[in-house]
Amino acid sequence: MTDIIHAAERAAQLRHEIERHNHLYYIEAKPELSDVEFDRLLEQLIVLERQFPDLLTPDSPSQRVGGTITKEFQSVSHREPMLSLSNTYSLAEVAEFYNRVKKLLALEGVDGQEMVAELKFDGVAISLLYRDGLLVRGATRGDGVQGDDITANIKTIPTVPLKIDFPGDVEVRGEVFMRKEDFEQLNESRPEEDRFANPRNATAGALKLQDSAEVARRNMSFVAYYLKGIRDESTPHFRRLKLLEELGFSTGNHYLLCHDLQGISDYIAYWSEERWNLPYETDGVVLKLDAVTFWDKLGATAKSPRWAIAYKYPAQQARTVLNAVVFQVGRLGSITPVAELEPVLLAGSTVSRSTLHNFDEIERLGIMIHDRVIIEKSGEVIPKVISVVVEERPLDVQPIVLPLNCPECAAPLAKLEGEVSYYCPNEEACPAQIRGRLLHFASRNAMDIKSLGKALVDQLVTIKLVMDVGDLYLLQEPQLENLERMGRKSARNLVRALDESRAKSYERLLYALGIRHVGLATARELAQAYPSLALLTVAREEELATVPDIGSVVARSICDYFARPSSQHLLEKLRDAGLQLIASDATPQVNRNFEGLTVLFTGSLDRYTRQQASALVVERGGRVVESISKKSGLVVAGHEAGSKLDKALKFGVRVVSEAEFEGML
Ligand code: IVH
Repeated sequence: MTDIIHAAERAAQLRHEIERHNHLYYIEAKPELSDVEFDRLLEQLIVLERQFPDLLTPDSPSQRVGGTITKEFQSVSHREPMLSLSNTYSLAEVAEFYNRVKKLLALEGVDGQEMVAELKFDGVAISLLYRDGLLVRGATRGDGVQGDDITANIKTIPTVPLKIDFPGDVEVRGEVFMRKEDFEQLNESRPEEDRFANPRNATAGALKLQDSAEVARRNMSFVAYYLKGIRDESTPHFRRLKLLEELGFSTGNHYLLCHDLQGISDYIAYWSEERWNLPYETDGVVLKLDAVTFWDKLGATAKSPRWAIAYKYPAQQARTVLNAVVFQVGRLGSITPVAELEPVLLAGSTVSRSTLHNFDEIERLGIMIHDRVIIEKSGEVIPKVISVVVEERPLDVQPIVLPLNCPECAAPLAKLEGEVSYYCPNEEACPAQIRGRLLHFASRNAMDIKSLGKALVDQLVTIKLVMDVGDLYLLQEPQLENLERMGRKSARNLVRALDESRAKSYERLLYALGIRHVGLATARELAQAYPSLALLTVAREEELATVPDIGSVVARSICDYFARPSSQHLLEKLRDAGLQLIASDATPQVNRNFEGLTVLFTGSLDRYTRQQASALVVERGGRVVESISKKSGLVVAGHEAGSKLDKALKFGVRVVSEAEFEGML
């Protein structure tokens, strides 16, 4: 009994400390602890709660690491509709809005009016419900009337308070978003073909994930901009924002009370430049009538309230010339046309290249070489060509011709039905694809082999010393020493780095293989569901699709990958090289159904190679033998099983078919 009392006290103390440091780090930006020290506190709490499960509370910061798997989100009704805002790009319309509200208030006998100017955060709107201080529900906007209950996912966001000091029911609305830095880091961990175009898309994707532990890793942030349900309904909006801060929310802290139209236009002008220096994206300014008492009187149209408006900054544009188009071959063979532009300054940086995505896009734009083009940067996203100044088309324009052959290996290009991109089908020998796979394998989130850079990869592939990532582990110092810009020291460093990479985790290796659509997060899910490569290589498509956040397209891609003989060959090389083909915590997840059993395989199996089948037995505690004896416990007989089967029957050893063997697994 004293134990639990003592533990309860300690847990309360830890929670208090953790939330205090959370606030210092995320909201005040004045951290007092290092990341390691903070993690240590959290770890202590998690251990304590595991030891005494009764101590776990819904507002415990341990909830922030996630772990809940949600198969389907419940639909929930909003207490009042979640409206959106009417948008404008024109300052004249902002003035109209201001004057309209002023006139309506004058009719009510109110003289002058104050507007709160806020930044328009570019993320995803959510609603939070607190009951007697406890966060009880977090929901998406949905269609405005009904949204999805994503409480488990929301709880992982460090700037969403799990507990506030406020009685009764209150609703807080705000925006979940990703800071630019966190967004870039996330994209780096994803396969090129699945990168998000902007932080907003990445946020929307993350909120819909089924595995909240993965949501926790996405590093999302929250700002509050709306508070409803407080007792004193006349509290103005500005004061409500202050109150939100006192309750522990972040508001972004850039809102301003404007007394007249001049104040509003100054605010808009100031942030039109200053917004580039913010750590997150804003696409405009929101203006809200400070006097909340009049919100209901002003009412709303079907979609948006009449007491607020959003001013959006126009996208930044520049004019330049298309000098040439080059065709790049990706790691997965896709051919991407890239525009080479006359260098031009746009929103603070010089732009000289921009992707044209695919041939459909070239046709849509009707673009030709030497054309005058308009390029645009919306938010922080990579610039893109948005249109051609056709009226000024010079006489020497030339059409952009799609090559019929791969610019790297000359293989005839192909196109998959229903896809817009052409690709080089010469997967195994196209040098561009080989180089791409090697660079991906060596990249930071994969095997992190720093000394294997682009120049070296180019050389290794050109002289055919390395044809796949397995060949890397056969490299010897003397071979490397004689390469350009290498020398003895660099050769030794590379061999050592490769050696060290053998110890990289199984999930990293899964990611490093570069399977289409398998990023770090998917690799992590796969490693959990299939703790060894032997198991993963025989997983069926339907089975894979039941893993959280793995859909049918990804499942198909994984099966296709392992079905290729070249992949099987590569995996053998990696196995021989001693890489981690089993999750480090794999043992407890696999059953021990073959404990103490001696198994012999004869004939060929449909769904497993001999090596895979053996691995499955060994993982489950069994032993695999090559020749039959009276002591053999089990014979698995495949097609064309020969003399061993006869012998087994003679000795009276138990014989099973492949299907029965699967059942035993
Ligand atoms: S107030 C009824 N304030 O913009 C008004 N919205 O186009 C509720 N947004 O759905 C919204 N920053 O996702 C408000 N400071 C801000 C905002 C903001 C971004 C988003 C929000 C909303 C959309 C409306």
